[in-house]
Amino acid sequence: MEVITTTNFSDLKLFKRGKVRDVYEVGNYYLIVSTDRLSAFDVIMNEGIPDKGKILNRISKFWFEYTKDFIPNHLVTMNVDEYPGECKPYKEQLRDRSMLVKKAKLIPIECIVRGYITGSGLIDYQKTGKICGIELPKGLVESEKLSSPIFTPSTKAEIGLHDENIAAEQAVSIIGKEAFNFIKESTLNIYSKAAEYALQKGIIIADTKMEFGYFEGKIILIDELLTPDSSRFWPLDGYQKGRAQNSYDKQYVRDYLLSINFNKKPPAPRLPEEVILNTSKIYQEALFKLTGENL
Ligand SMILES: Nc1ncnc2c1ncn2[C@@H]1O[C@H](COP(=O)(O)OP(=O)(O)O)[C@@H](O)[C@H]1O
Ligand SMILES: [Mg+2]
Repeated sequence: MEVITTTNFSDLKLFKRGKVRDVYEVGNYYLIVSTDRLSAFDVIMNEGIPDKGKILNRISKFWFEYTKDFIPNHLVTMNVDEYPGECKPYKEQLRDRSMLVKKAKLIPIECIVRGYITGSGLIDYQKTGKICGIELPKGLVESEKLSSPIFTPSTKAEIGLHDENIAAEQAVSIIGKEAFNFIKESTLNIYSKAAEYALQKGIIIADTKMEFGYFEGKIILIDELLTPDSSRFWPLDGYQKGRAQNSYDKQYVRDYLLSINFNKKPPAPRLPEEVILNTSKIYQEALFKLTGENL
């Protein structure tokens, strides 16, 4: 099995390297390549996770298809045989781990929706009783389901920095009222439909992050969608409020890093083989549970 942590397709124009994905510019399109890199606490680990890129790519594709009737998205094709000719030399590396997408102008807000209280939301709530300025009922406990999902945007930080939760007014001042309303409604809508589906498959989607961009004057969904990297997936079986949950996302790696008192700053520590392989298995299980498919 080939683990790819970075790509160097020298005949293609690199547009940007994100934490996990390498994005190339191919004619009128972007080519998004999901590597096997894993970032935790916004620090990129040195080791790759076998099959992670392919699994994430597959899960995003599944959700883009699931949601396409009520929100347009950037996906053009995942079939490498349909890619522009200049991608041909890299076809085998691109297979299953890449997506040809529409070039969008990024809306610089991370659209986060939370159905349950955990993570940075829980920390903010414990300090202030609010998340992103939204007042929540008193007495909520860790992992508790919210009476209805909330939209809690954050800024999109450059590599190495942490995203910051912001209030709605601040998001409006960055992107304008109309765009804000549209992405807020879309995010909540996509989340509620996806969360309902996932629940039937035994997965709680506790929270997730989406990105939107402008394409030909309209707002479309871009980036990745409802993957274990952009969301917290919890097994329904064994869910209990009042404590942290076992989860299908990289929480497993985060927990390992916390157990060794990682200071959440580069350089990343070495991940033990066991943590790497178990993480790969967790990603595979998430794919199977959600889509009924294996790689
Ligand atoms: N259709 C698109 N148009 C423009 N930019 C996109 C599109 N889809 C994704 N992106 C951007 O490509 C990058 C994907 O790489 P990723 O590893 O997720 O980066 P990040 O470190 O920002 O999370 C992100 O910066 C994302 O905003
Ligand atoms: Mg990203």
